[in-house]
Amino acid sequence: MTGPRIVLIGPMGVGKTTVGELLAERLGTTFRDTDADIVAAEGRQIAEIFVDDGEPAFRELERRAVRTAVTEHPGVLALGGGAILDAGTRELLAGHTVVYLSMDVEEAVKRTGLNAARPLLAVNPRKQWRELMEARRHLYTDAARVVVPTDGRSPEEVAAAVLDAL
Ligand code: S3P
Repeated sequence: MTGPRIVLIGPMGVGKTTVGELLAERLGTTFRDTDADIVAAEGRQIAEIFVDDGEPAFRELERRAVRTAVTEHPGVLALGGGAILDAGTRELLAGHTVVYLSMDVEEAVKRTGLNAARPLLAVNPRKQWRELMEARRHLYTDAARVVVPTDGRSPEEVAAAVLDAL
């Protein structure tokens, strides 16, 4: 199958971009991130798109960005944390080497709790993380060929674990 060698999914802040760049380097290929593609195409930050247009409009832009990336990009690809919420986006992942980078709620709060740039965590990060994880965990698991836990691991260790798992 053509398309990306590896597609990274998982919650925001889990390290998809950092690990993706490391994986691309180890595999001698390129890295692409659909959040960055959307920002470049729209000329707006993700948080602005959420506020101005709402989440459903963002998910549609995201689906388009994922479609383009899985069609065109032969390297390592990272998706935004909520991409798997969209059924059309999930369909686009079928047959690809999808890797779920997971972390537990406490790790998530530690890593992203104070990051105001992430619109879904504006208030009470721990409660919001618990809800997000409960709503999304099975979607990540179902979409993925392998699950790689990241808790307590450095990006280098996570990248090595991904390569071992494939
Ligand atoms: C989101 C995750 C973000 C970004 C947007 C929505 C989510 O991506 O797409 O803020 O719904 O979890 P990252 O996972 O790259 O932070």
